[in-house]
Order: sequence, then C-alpha cells, then structure tokens
Amino acid sequence: MSETNSQKEWRTAITSNQDGKILIRGYNLDNLIGNKSYAEVCFLLLKGEMPTPNEAKMLDAIFVSSIDAGIATPSSVAARTIFSGGNSLNAAVAGGILTLGDAHGGAIEKAAKMFQDYLKGKENIKDNDIAQMAKNIVDDAVKNKKRLAGYGHKLHTVDPRTKRLLEVAKDLNFGGSYVKLAVAIADEFRVKKPEQKLPLNVDGCIAAIISDMGFDYRLGKGFFIIARSCGLVGQVFEEWMREKPFRRLAPHLHEYDGVPERG
Ligand SMILES: CC(C)(COP(=O)(O)OP(=O)(O)OC[C@H]1O[C@@H](n2cnc3c(N)ncnc32)[C@H](O)[C@@H]1OP(=O)(O)O)[C@@H](O)C(=O)NCCC(=O)NCCS
Repeated sequence: MSETNSQKEWRTAITSNQDGKILIRGYNLDNLIGNKSYAEVCFLLLKGEMPTPNEAKMLDAIFVSSIDAGIATPSSVAARTIFSGGNSLNAAVAGGILTLGDAHGGAIEKAAKMFQDYLKGKENIKDNDIAQMAKNIVDDAVKNKKRLAGYGHKLHTVDPRTKRLLEVAKDLNFGGSYVKLAVAIADEFRVKKPEQKLPLNVDGCIAAIISDMGFDYRLGKGFFIIARSCGLVGQVFEEWMREKPFRRLAPHLHEYDGVPERG
C-alpha cells in the first residue's frame, strides 16, 4: 500500500473495485461466480482465505440451521408487522434484524465470547479439564443466578437443530474443545438444574462451532443475520402476497388493565 493510500480515511482490505475488476480478498469475482458457493465466498470474505471443503460444508450447514424458525419468532413478527403498517420490504426486513438480541439469535456472540474467554489459547486442554471447567461455569451460574447465553429454549427441551449440527460438526472434524465445552455445560445443567431443562440451543451450538472454526466471537450475530435475512425476506414477501395491510391484535390476545374511566 502506498503512503498516500494509507492516509485515506476510508480503507478496506476486503474488496477492491477498480478498472472494471472486482476482487474479493484478491480473488476475481468473475471467477467466483458459478464456481464457488455463497457459503464459500462468505467464509472468504469474513476470514480472508478460501475455506477447505469441510469448512465450506460446516458454514453452509450453520446457515441452513438458522434460515427460518416460523412465523412466531420476534424477528418474523416484527418484520411482518412493520410491513403491514405500510412499509417497504427492506424496512420490514431491517426491522426484523433489529430484534436479534441476547435472547434471539444474538446469543451466538455472547456464548462464543464465553467459550473463547475460557478456552482461547488452551485448545489442547484434556477432556477431564473441560468437564471440570463446565462444572465450575454451571456452579457459578446457579449460585449467582446467571443466565448463560446459548442454553435454554422456549419450545424445545432438545433443540433439533443442535442435535443435527453436532452430528455434522463431528463428521467434518469440528468437534473440538469448544464444542466439547458447550456440550459439557449442557450435561452439567442437566445434573444441577434438571427441572429447568436447559439444552444447548442452536445459538450456543453455532457459537461453539464457529469458535472451533477460528472465528472471532464478535462475528457471532453476523452468522445469524446472514442466515435469517433470507427467512425474513420470505416471511415479508408472504405477508405482502397473502395478508391485508394493518395487522391488529385480535381482541382475545390483549386487554387493558390500567385505571378505569375517571371523572
Ligand atoms: C431462550 C430463553 C429466553 C427461554 O426462556 P424460558 O424457557 O421462557 O425460561 P424462563 O425465562 O421462564 O426461565 C426458567 C428458569 O430457567 C432459568 N434459565 C433459563 N435460561 C437459562 C440460561 N440460559 N441459563 C441459566 N438459567 C436459565 C431461569 O433463570 C429460570 O430459573 P428460575 O425458575 O430459577 O427462576 C432463555 O432460556 C434464555 O434467556 N436463554 C439464554 C439466551 C439464548 O440462548 N437465547 C437463544 C435462544 S434460541
């Protein structure tokens, strides 16, 4: 990079777009189109290098696992409601994305931070030490009434997406120390809080796998955003095609419980 360039205010090492040529991390987009999958190019863009075949399959599986979870999720309800208020598809999808916080999709970031805080630099840790680490983490959570990101679910006592993702991760050799710690914490919750049924949910599972893949925890929410954007586009388009504008809660779903009429 020349000195003049390095002093420019807006700099990027991701994509260059000059003289009619678009290069992503140095690869000509013309050659990626038709030759590489969306997941492969996402990996390239986010990590800087082309994925191995196993990395590409793993990332693709992560995207598929989070593509949609039905109409009742906070993001889908928000996106459809915004659209039904008379807004555009992009505004509605963006509104859906804004719901992705610590309880919905965004838990990937917090869970990955927790796993990476405990394990970064200690990836060759022995299984016994992982089990002890999980015990300490859960003891601390129970004692201090902490909610651990990546555990628990509104509907599932076993998250079906976690089950399948763990199988895929094992087949593709991404069942390393982070995945082992994530599973050991869920096992420990089963012992310490059996009545509450706190499974490793899809966010926690993705958090562990992306950590085993070497991604920074701060990208955590990004994986969910990439995956769920497609689901939200579908939800909003369906709202557009099927429903009349102005969604309103049905009377049996809401009530007024404030003060009665006053003089
Ligand atoms: C997903 C979630 C909102 C579902 O909540 P829920 O099923 O309605 O559970 P509740 O909020 O009623 O909590 C029930 C009990 O389990 C405990 N609990 C729930 N999730 C917990 C977690 N992740 N870690 C520790 N304890 C948890 C609560 O503290 C509560 O304990 P108490 O009965 O002693 O008060 C909740 O589990 C959570 O906040 N998880 C962490 C965020 C996360 O991973 N989100 C991604 C979801 S896919």
